[in-house]
This record gives sequence, C-alpha cells and structure tokens, in this order.
Amino acid sequence: MTKIEKIVLSYSGGLDTSIILKWLQETYGCEVVTFTADLGQGEELEPARANAEMVGVKDIRIVDLREEFVSDFVFPMLRANALYEGQYLLGSSIARPLIAKHLVGIAREVGANAVAHGATGKGNDQIRFELAVNALDPSIKVIAPWRQWNIRSRMQLLEYAEKHHIPVPSDKRGEAPFSIDANLLHTSTEGKILENPAEVAPDHAYQRTVDPVDAPDTPEIVTIGFDWGDPVSVNGKSMTPAALLTELNGLGGRHGIGRLDLVENRFIGMKSRGIYETPGGTILLTAHRGIESITLDRAAAHLKDEIMPRYAELIYNGFWFAPEREMLQALIDHSQAFVSGEVTLRLYKGSASVISRASPCSLYSADLVTFEESTIAFDHHDAEGFIRLNGLRLRSWAVRGGR
Ligand code: ARG
Repeated sequence: MTKIEKIVLSYSGGLDTSIILKWLQETYGCEVVTFTADLGQGEELEPARANAEMVGVKDIRIVDLREEFVSDFVFPMLRANALYEGQYLLGSSIARPLIAKHLVGIAREVGANAVAHGATGKGNDQIRFELAVNALDPSIKVIAPWRQWNIRSRMQLLEYAEKHHIPVPSDKRGEAPFSIDANLLHTSTEGKILENPAEVAPDHAYQRTVDPVDAPDTPEIVTIGFDWGDPVSVNGKSMTPAALLTELNGLGGRHGIGRLDLVENRFIGMKSRGIYETPGGTILLTAHRGIESITLDRAAAHLKDEIMPRYAELIYNGFWFAPEREMLQALIDHSQAFVSGEVTLRLYKGSASVISRASPCSLYSADLVTFEESTIAFDHHDAEGFIRLNGLRLRSWAVRGGR
C-alpha cells in the first residue's frame, strides 16, 4: 500500500465533511488541504473557512467555479437537451466532474497523492468523483471515508460529531436537515420522509421554488437569445453564463418552474426518490428546444434525440471524462453551428411555454408551408408519388393479409 502523504478533501463546510476532515487527520496523521467550490449553492462559504481553521487546516481553498461550471459543463450538456430517464436535468451529476477536476489540479499543485470526498457508499456521487479522478490522474488515490469507517448511519454520525465538538446544523424547524445538494443548476433533496415514495413530499422539502399554486396570477414574458446553441442574453441584455442562469433561476423560482418529484434508478443498482428544483435549467431546456425547432434540420434533430438518452446516462453514471462522452459531445457541438436566434417564453404557474421563436439562420419557410398561394415551386403531384411509393410495401402486406 502506498503511504498517504497529503490529502485534498472536497469540503463543503457542512456536518458530514467536517467529520470527514477530522477523521482523515486522525486516521492518516497527515496534512489535509480543504477545497470548497463555489458552484452557486447560495450558501455562505466563509463558515467553511472558519470550520477548517478550527481543526488546524493550514491550506484552505475556496474557489469560485460558477462561470466554469455553467460554461464548460452545464451549457455543453444543455446543447444535448440531456435528461436522465426522461425527466432529471442532471444537476448533481454534472457538478461532480468539475469538482474532481479541481481536486486533481490542487493535489498536483500541493504535492498531495490522495483526494477525499464525502459521498456515501450507496450513491452515484462516489462513482462520478472517482471515475473522473481515474480519468484525469491515475496516480492519485481516492479516499472515501463513508466506505471505510464504521459509522453506518446518520445517528452514529451525530454521535461522532458530539464527541468531537463539531457543531450540528439543523433545518428551519430545528430538525436534522434533508440530504441536500445545491448548485447553480439545481437543488436536490433526499432522505428522511422522502425515502418513502408513497408519502407526499412536504412543502418544506422545496428550497428554491414556490408552489405553482402560490405563483403570481399574472404571467411573465421572457426572451432568451442563443448563439451557437448557447444562451447569451435575457430580454436583450447580454450576460455571462453564470449571471444568465442566476437570472433565470430567480424568474423560474418565483413562477414555480422546474419542480420534479422523481423515483430514479441509481447506477449502483437501487431505486431512490428525490425532489429536484431546476428553475433556470427547465426554462433553458424549453427555450433551447424552441430555437432548435427552427434551426436544425429534421434528420440532425432526430439523430440528436436518439443519442440523447445515451449521452445523459453517461453523465449520470459518471463518464463525463470518457472517450465516448467526448465523441458524442463533438457530434452535438457540431450540430449547434446555426442554433442562434431568440425564443420568447411565457412563465406561468409552474410552466414555461415557448410562445415565439425567430432566427437569422431559420430553416422555416412560411412561403413553403402556407395554406395560401405560394411562390415556391412545390408540385402537389410530387406528394402523390411520395405517398404512393411509401405505401407500396404496405399494400403488398395488406394484400397478403398481414393483419
Ligand atoms: N440522486 C441525484 C443524483 O444521483 C442527486 C444526488 C445528490 N443529492 C443529495 N441530495 N445528496 O444525481
């Protein structure tokens, strides 16, 4: 076994990773560097510094990754219209490779030969972190305390915290909080009462969207500009990727957009139930499909839709840094060259609906499709032959008595 000389820990500053920090120091007796990523989780990150200082960490890294997260991870995924199992916008899945990339970068910089994370042994996140580290630097060892120590439940975790004087946070109602993972793309809430899929999720399980029932009675209109498949403006105002997603999260949250109560199939082999809130991402997915509808060729659009579930599954399963994901990405990116223009949506009580779209690269021809007299040469007799030939084999089949 290689000796662990120095460890870089993915550190949120919360209860679980504070315990892990302490445990790593005690178990390995080496220096632990903490890395806290600002992914727009909307929490104060300074407590992470204070908590790390308290247990004697000398090298504390708090890095703002919001722009990189949205421009290099969220937007490429959005180009694919990626949804796992038809519904999940992959908000946690897409953040892991980015965190892993920076863990590896810092490890190299400080001469650490191991990185550590706080994901449990039952989840997807451990797989995503570790596959990414494998792909980026096979020489770095990954430590997953949840799979090594003998703490087996949240109760035991709380006991360990008490013993080591680590402050235990509680939710607004003074109870132990749900398991929450938040970033600029989404908030995921799991655990506690949600573990029974037959139970209706209580209102306090939702963190960043209003109940559509309580959303404003007047709809709001928003126009999103796209360039090469990526959103670049809101209501005519150019914005950086992170600023744009932040803006749409605010709008979507107020209108109750992007709530999802889902039972999904984890890669590790079990079903789990969670609540997702992806307000800005839901608006962007709808808008992106809107602009693609007039700018993509039919066969190109259909090919994208065929590979989408495969691409989404790769991200869900943790294969972001894998050759097949990069191959699919190249195909998707290539398709976006003319995906530019503007889409207008109406936000109203939980829904985001496209109400108009326009593009200088549009393939849509009103003159061609019109029910009125057209100037474009379209011979209606061609349609007759088209149908006759497509029907040829169906007539043979019917004559034989296929049904
Ligand atoms: N089940 C989701 C996924 O695998 C979210 C996982 C993290 N969320 C959490 N609340 N701990 O992508």
